[in-house]
Amino acid sequence: MIAIGCDHGGFELKLAIMEHLKSRSIEFVDCGCDGEKVDYPDIAEKTCKKVVSGECEKAFLICGTGIGMSMSANKIKGIRAAVCSDWYSAKYTRLHNDANVLCLGGRVLGAGLALELVDVFLDTEFEGGRHSSRIEKVMKLEEK
Ligand code: RB5
Repeated sequence: MIAIGCDHGGFELKLAIMEHLKSRSIEFVDCGCDGEKVDYPDIAEKTCKKVVSGECEKAFLICGTGIGMSMSANKIKGIRAAVCSDWYSAKYTRLHNDANVLCLGGRVLGAGLALELVDVFLDTEFEGGRHSSRIEKVMKLEEK
């Protein structure tokens, strides 16, 4: 199960991503918004809670730039969110960072590229190995 959320700056792109997930028969839970003006931290919190609770494996968060969503998401314990605008970063944030949230900019990306980023993020497994201890260190920073 995938969680997905957006603010008004990311609404159109969220619709495109949800259609894409449907076409891939991937189940998702839509955490809002429905196009109305909202504050991105509220949506980030609601969406990330689905990941932290274990209800969802990964999440997509979309705002105008992806930045506000990523800043908010990374304040939540257990979340490793990456804002990406290129395919290589979306791939390697799974391979090396074990990111569980991908943040996208609805005012930055065209839908074609965004859906490629969604696919590579979904289809790439964490490499583990030497990256595991680094991720453990990243997560320990939550205690500081
Ligand atoms: C909303 O206008 C905009 O600030 C928001 O979508 C996002 O880009 C913030 O990072």
